[in-house]
Amino acid sequence: MARILPTLALLLAAAPAFADTFEEVKVAAGKTLFDAECRRCHAPNATDPSYGPPLENVLNRAAGSVGNYDYSIALEASGIVWTPAALRAWMEDNDGFMPGTKMRHVGIEDRTVQDFILAYLASISPQDNTAVDGE
Ligand code: HEC
Repeated sequence: MARILPTLALLLAAAPAFADTFEEVKVAAGKTLFDAECRRCHAPNATDPSYGPPLENVLNRAAGSVGNYDYSIALEASGIVWTPAALRAWMEDNDGFMPGTKMRHVGIEDRTVQDFILAYLASISPQDNTAVDGE
């Protein structure tokens, strides 16, 4: 026991650092995947030109709410909020999830790939939209 305790203390002290590192790795992997799968149409910040709506602060944002973007009627009228679950369904089968959207089909079915992209989208969403919407 006497020998185990210091080891345990060390492990516990390292745990938060490990969690941070893991999160950083997820965000970095998510950025690489975003650059490959989404970046050609989506800017990660609201100031850069973007064919699709910019995705800065997209997490928990109301769908179709970027003021000057010309959305499809389907997306604008959907009334949904971009929760992690909605973003997963969208990545998996966007035009099945929302018939009539003008976003070309992306079929990201791998949950780990979704996890990484979600971690990246969260990292570019510093604004707490849940507080804004009161949800
Ligand atoms: C070929 C271009 C293209 C690619 C690739 C693409 N998108 Fe889109 N995306 C669009 C367009 C266009 C829209 C607007 C759709 C509409 O109005 O129906 C859109 C809309 C969205 C929205 C809704 C945003 C809002 O303001 O409501 C999200 C979220 C989104 N895309 C995420 C992604 C993610 C994540 C990826 C990569 C996995 C991706 N998109 C890949 C073109 C693209």
